Order: sequence, then structure tokens, then C-alpha cells
Amino acid sequence: MKLFLIAGARPNFMKIAPIIRAIKKHNNHNKNFPIQCKLVHTGQHYDHEMSSTFFNDLSIPEPDIHLNVGSGTHAEQTGKVMIGLEKILLKEKSNLVMVVGDVNSTLAGALTAAKLHIPVAHVEAGLRSYDRRMPEEINRLLTDSISDYLFTPTEEANKNLIKEGIPPEKIHFVGDIMIDNLFFNLKKADKSKIVEKLRLNSSYTLLTLHRPSNVDEKKKLKNIFQALNKISQKIPIVFPAHPRTKKRIEEFGLKNYLDRRIKLIEPLGFLDFLKLMKGAQFVITDSGGIQEETTVLQIPCLTLRDTTERPITITNGTNTLCGNDPKKIIKEVEKILKGKKKKIKSLEFWDGKTAERIIKILVTKPNLNKGGNGKWKKKSGN
Ligand code: UD1
Repeated sequence: MKLFLIAGARPNFMKIAPIIRAIKKHNNHNKNFPIQCKLVHTGQHYDHEMSSTFFNDLSIPEPDIHLNVGSGTHAEQTGKVMIGLEKILLKEKSNLVMVVGDVNSTLAGALTAAKLHIPVAHVEAGLRSYDRRMPEEINRLLTDSISDYLFTPTEEANKNLIKEGIPPEKIHFVGDIMIDNLFFNLKKADKSKIVEKLRLNSSYTLLTLHRPSNVDEKKKLKNIFQALNKISQKIPIVFPAHPRTKKRIEEFGLKNYLDRRIKLIEPLGFLDFLKLMKGAQFVITDSGGIQEETTVLQIPCLTLRDTTERPITITNGTNTLCGNDPKKIIKEVEKILKGKKKKIKSLEFWDGKTAERIIKILVTKPNLNKGGNGKWKKKSGN
């Protein structure tokens, strides 16, 4: 099997690392039926802190192909990935294109492959926030509708896909790939010296914020900061700020508005971030993946959104939705500070073996394992 694995933005990198490891494991045991994998980095995220630091922390091999698309509007970014990727896919025959998550590079990769009649596998399929103002929701809907192999993290995701008319035989419930990455790196993260470096005491909160709906409007961002300033009187806050958020803080002149007990720092690498997350009293975020990671780590998580595409983290995990209303945020923080904790319930297949299940399914598919166009010229990325 020859497959192109597409990644482009920070939350993709945690999802490809376990896939690459599972391919390596498969190849070690199946020397006669290897999977040849080429890694394509679209370049949607390009800063060291948003990209290469993850390649180092997660031991992801150097990509075989860089598209260097960089920043732009949604259409520009999606279009540039498609134009770059189409040239590669036309030149080098492959059996499968695998995309992960829900960023613009995910949709661009799936769309390019589907139009060239190359089968598409989508890892983390079926998540729905049912909020179409989120660019990620559009990416999820469209990617799933043109994928041939839909690998889902929860049973609920299967139900979402069935409701949309996706044939059941295309859907495979395999568990959460983010958790593969989390378990694999827990011990390594213990070695991080980030707590000492930031001179933190045992009690602190970790904050991430980057959704356009929270950071792109001055009034909304200021309201959130108002709540954070109040919270910081009770517990210090560490705030590794996403480039989008940093830009907005400067543009809106809000830097001095933040209390000095809120440590505004550069985005962190995965291991440093994991160490901070594990040790935090609670986490405040608007990210997708962090809702899942905090659930498994049993750390309370307050999500500054009205909806989530990961409802299992609320029903079975430690997550609570707060929107961006300062009163609601402060109320939920007070509950946590009083010791109120949600108990986690069963999370089927969130066991660190999702990537292996995906590879096991793919190698049984005859149409993906025929063709035998010989070896790809350049050594594959696995
Ligand atoms: C993207 C994803 C989002 C994901 C997030 C995680 C889409 C639609 N959104 O949002 O799902 O949760 O990544 O980070 O794909 N920038 C830099 N340096 C970088 C990357 C971006 O300065 O390395 C700047 C860009 O110039 C741009 C802003 O950050 O102004 C946003 O980047 P972009 O990739 O468009 O979207 P994200 O908000 O990062």
C-alpha cells in the first residue's frame, strides 16, 4: 500500500505521530507487505512553536514533501493546498490519501484526492458541533461526505454519520487517536522542566484561547479577560498564547489590561504543555483536543464555547461548557475551587491503540493493497 499522509496545522501533528508509529510496527512484522507512507506538510502552520517543535517532541520524521502554503484567507489556504497537492498526486500514484482532524488542510487534502478518484481515509470522522459558523464544522462535514474510510473516536460520531446518510460499511469505530498520543508521551512529559522555568507553585490554571469567535472581536476578548483577571486573584494563570490571539491582543491594545498574575507566554511544545496540563488544578480552553486530553487526565476543563463536537467529554468526562459570559466562567471556576469534581465514566477504545486498529483495518482492504507500482522512488517517511 502506498499512502500519502497529510498534515498542516498544530492539532494535526498529535494525530499523525501515532499513525506513523503504527505503520512502522506493521512494517516490522510484515516485511513482504509494507505500507509505504509519504508525509506531506502543507505548511498551514509554519512558526517553530506551531510546527517544528511538535516534530521534535513527537519524533515525527521530516516530511517527504513541504507545500509551504502559509497563512491566508480560508479560500486562499484551502486552494493553495489543493493546487500543491494535486501536482504531487498526479505525479506519484498512491492507493490512499489519509487526512486527520478538521483544519483547512484536512478538507483540502480530501477534496484533492477525491477528485482524482484516490480513496480517502479520514481519522477523527463524525465529530459535529452542529455550529456551521465554525470553519472546522464545514471542514468536518465536507471531508466526511467524500471520504471512503471514516475512522471515528466515539459511537456518537458513528450515529452522526449514519444520520447524514454515510453508508455504515464505510464507518469504523476505532477510538480516539489523541489519546494514543497522550499515553505515549506521559512519561516523557514528566521530564519537562517547564514548571520550574515558569516558577510555578503547585496550584495554577492553564489557559488556551484561539477560536475566532472568542478572540477576533475586541469586546468579547475583553469580557473574557475581565473574567480571567478576577480568577487570577484566586489562582495564577499560565497563558501560552496562539499567534492569532497574540496578534489580536496587540491590535486591540489589551496587553496591559491583563492582570500580572496571568503569565502570557509563547505557544509551548507538546511535552511542556502536557506537563503543565497534568499539574494544573483546572484548564480553561476553547480548543477541541484539550477537552479530550483533560478528560483522560481527570483534570477539570472549562470550555469557553457554547457547543462542542466532543460531547462525550461532558457526559463521561471532566468538561463543562461555559460560553464566553464572564459570570458563567467565574461561577464554574468557583465550583472547582470549592472542590466540586466531575467523575469520569467509561470511554470505549480511548486506550492508546487507535492507530493500530486503523492500520489493521486498512491492510485488509484488497483495493488498497493492489496495484504494485513498485517502490516509491524516495524512501518513505516511516
Ligand atoms: C487552525 C485551525 C483550527 C485549529 C488551530 C490550532 C482551520 C480552519 N483552523 O486555526 O481548527 O484549532 O489551527 O492552532 O484550519 N499564524 C502564525 N504562525 C503560524 C500559524 C498561524 O502566525 O505558524 C497566524 C496566521 O498568520 C493567522 C493566524 O495565526 O493570522 C491563524 O492561523 P490559521 O492557520 O489560519 O488558523 P488557526 O486560528 O491557527
